[in-house]
Amino acid sequence: MSPSAGSVRPLAALASGPLRGRIRIPGDKSISHRALMLGALAIGETVIEGLLEGGDVLATAEAMRAFGATVTRQAPGRWTVNGLGVGGLLEPEDVVDFGNAGTGVRLAMGLASNQATTVTFTGDASLRRRPMGRILDPLRRMGVQVLARSKDRLPLTLKGPDVALPIDYRVPVASAQVKSAVLLAGLNAPGVTRLVEPVATRDHTERMLAAFGAAIEIETNADGERVISLEGQRDLRPQSVEVPGDPSAAAFPIVAALIVEGSDITVESVLLNPLRSGLLETLIEMGGDITIEKRRTVGGESVGDIRVRASRLRAVNVPAGRAPSMIDEYPILAVAGSFAEGRTVMEGLGELRVKESDRIAAVAAGLAANGIACEEGPESLVVTGGSGVGGGRVTTHLDHRIAMSFLVLGLATADRVAIDDAAPIATSFPEFRDLMTGLGARFEELEPPAS
Ligand code: S3P
Repeated sequence: MSPSAGSVRPLAALASGPLRGRIRIPGDKSISHRALMLGALAIGETVIEGLLEGGDVLATAEAMRAFGATVTRQAPGRWTVNGLGVGGLLEPEDVVDFGNAGTGVRLAMGLASNQATTVTFTGDASLRRRPMGRILDPLRRMGVQVLARSKDRLPLTLKGPDVALPIDYRVPVASAQVKSAVLLAGLNAPGVTRLVEPVATRDHTERMLAAFGAAIEIETNADGERVISLEGQRDLRPQSVEVPGDPSAAAFPIVAALIVEGSDITVESVLLNPLRSGLLETLIEMGGDITIEKRRTVGGESVGDIRVRASRLRAVNVPAGRAPSMIDEYPILAVAGSFAEGRTVMEGLGELRVKESDRIAAVAAGLAANGIACEEGPESLVVTGGSGVGGGRVTTHLDHRIAMSFLVLGLATADRVAIDDAAPIATSFPEFRDLMTGLGARFEELEPPAS
């Protein structure tokens, strides 16, 4: 059974009174995956505090065990990893199943294919539909052989070379996963792996590699592009990693508080890395009453407590260039746009078509089902606020962010909003329902369909 598989759990969100209180959301998903993976390569004990214990990250923990690392849950959120050294991962005895976790599988393909082992990767129905060519292209250039049943889709078997080749690579899509897979593969290639990143994406891999003692340098070239150089075959030193709160999870209570009348909440200890902060910037432009309190540094990252009060929102045009810094937040921004005065225009969204679901189509269908006017373009969405009342049933396509976004919608519409399946929420934010209920949100479980 894949880590995210389970029974279907339909759920409805009901119109709720003001949301009030303080919450702490779980650790950042991107940083959690990376901490487990770098821990698996460092000889000695890496201690991780605040690890996200969602299905995606648990799949990565299990995968690191399959590669021979000792991964132990010492207490809730506190994990230790005893690694095997760069180039020291073992060949797993079985297929490695990443469930719903795109980041997990893509980074692990880079991590594990730079050495002479053969590994078969797979995932759930959603992950098996997602494109892997973007990772396989650079890995092939490093000497990795790829066996696929269906072109560039999981399940995939990767046979690493005896000696990986360091490459010079220009990242062709704005994707932190592609960048990270190449950097992780470069760790065991003799010489310098050089990456040019035309559009800056989240930089957690670079930051964490530097903290673990990798020989990594980042410069900006004459065209303003980031150039990352990594010298391979250097040992990594185990670290203590403190994982800040996930801004992509915080997005749901933040938007809920903006749109549910009378709300006033504080979300504590949220990562404020500027390459992840596009949603906050946009919501503030829309007139959201959002203040950042107690800014501080945790584990080398800026964090703060975010106070949000219900606000009258105005529609804005979100520039395409902002997409990489809020790539996972468009579904919930579309929900905010449903309550804003005017047309919220979102452009440059091509990558949303290849996330856990086709998020442009899923959002457009979900809004339409709830009477909200929405125009879907090949790479854009336009939402007209103030038009919907809820009452719809939304298909989530195994996509946790579609599920949470539409539940948030239902807290603020007159009629309830139902989703076909809340189970995938556990991949990234298992505490979602409890934390939201604690703030005053109302949900109702529905009968699963007869099978
Ligand atoms: C992630 C990168 C993004 C994002 C994903 C997490 C990461 O994907 O959507 O949820 O941790 O590197 P892309 O790199 O495909 O944009």
